Amino acid sequence: MLSIGGADVRDLAADHATPLLVLDEEDLRARARRFRDAYARAGAPLVYYAAKAFLTTTIARWVVDEGLGIDVASGGELAVAVRAGVPGERLLMHGNNKSMAEIEAAVAAGVGRIVADSFDDVVRIADVALRAGVVQPVLVRVTVGVEAHTHEFIATAHEDQKFGLSMSSGAAQEAVRRIVALPSLRFVGLHSHIGSQIFVASGFEVAAHRAVRFLDRIRSEHGVVVTELNLGGGLGIKYTDDDAPPAVAEIAAELLEIVVAECQRYRLPVPRLAFEPGRAIVGPSTTTIYRVGTIKRRTLEGGQQRVYVSVDGGMSDNIRTALYDADYTVALANRGSDARAMLTRIVGKHCESGDIVVRDAWLPDDLAPGDLIAVAATGAYHRSMASNYNLVTRPAVVSVAGGAAQVVLRRESLADLFATDVGLSEADVRTFGS
Ligand SMILES: Cc1ncc(COP(=O)(O)O)c(C=O)c1O
Repeated sequence: MLSIGGADVRDLAADHATPLLVLDEEDLRARARRFRDAYARAGAPLVYYAAKAFLTTTIARWVVDEGLGIDVASGGELAVAVRAGVPGERLLMHGNNKSMAEIEAAVAAGVGRIVADSFDDVVRIADVALRAGVVQPVLVRVTVGVEAHTHEFIATAHEDQKFGLSMSSGAAQEAVRRIVALPSLRFVGLHSHIGSQIFVASGFEVAAHRAVRFLDRIRSEHGVVVTELNLGGGLGIKYTDDDAPPAVAEIAAELLEIVVAECQRYRLPVPRLAFEPGRAIVGPSTTTIYRVGTIKRRTLEGGQQRVYVSVDGGMSDNIRTALYDADYTVALANRGSDARAMLTRIVGKHCESGDIVVRDAWLPDDLAPGDLIAVAATGAYHRSMASNYNLVTRPAVVSVAGGAAQVVLRRESLADLFATDVGLSEADVRTFGS
């Protein structure tokens, strides 16, 4: 039997139904504190929590309470942070295609930093700031030409990709030139994000080297001394025993050392560092609880057996396996078992053969329909990437602390789902909701 934050998962499943995401509040807060402390020592007084990993008003309040800011990548994420009462100066907005409405909302909220991602972005941010009568601090998102040691689709700093402005082609330099010439913008520094689920420091190190070299060029060409260097997020977490994430404090100290040494080399003042961890704060804090629905044994060519365990969620609450071939640690959650381990494939309930939650999971061979299974480290990019595929409702998220549970996001109802279907009357929607 599994307990999380002092709460028995059988009770949680009975009270809140499955699939259910169970978030350990103290775990999340402790990770936020660890980042705040390690990065403060490394000259980064403000660490932004990356909202894209998972954001609700409750989480926004917790991370701000622990001394972090929040980076948002859309009007929706911004609205949640603002509703949670996060002060504007603790917010940062980025995104490669911000709408005018999103930029207006950011400027109106007094967002402390907007990251310019293109020449169009520079013009739009300047225009909104001018009309609002403010001088907006901006960073330039640069591509530093580093390919992180991670899955190809989530590496974001090599040249052939949609984010940022290239340092090697001169585009980033040109963006700085334009920003410096615009009175409604204040150029503050550079922003670089090299990828996600990264385990080796070398990618960050190269990014830091190149970014500082670029700071020197900016000073030579524009006479501007850059005061801030944001190195993004991307620290990896342990999904399985094969993953060995680096210690936060070590990476932070190493990066500071590199930036200080490089700045000394170029006789530049050391810029304030900023970071944007998402996954490493919220990812390990959460476990998804599913209920087993069916178990099917198939004999494959060559006589090998494959045991398909179907659960009551799937790619609508975890798209990472289909997208990135992600792997997880799984356990039987509602009881102990001495039965021998069998290799299973945990699949969802969706109409896609790629609807796999965990490709290879060892579970006891007395597993039966009705059992609960727990999939660990599902706090980041799970509920935030959830969909209504097959018109399923998205699962609830409950936080647990000291044995007590609190709903953070309630389960969607069919009424929520059909509220946008204009072919249905209000009475129909109410019926679906009941
Ligand atoms: C610009 C930026 N900052 C921060 C993050 C957060 O990354 P992670 O959750 O891997 O720490 C991302 C993720 O893609 C990002 O694109």
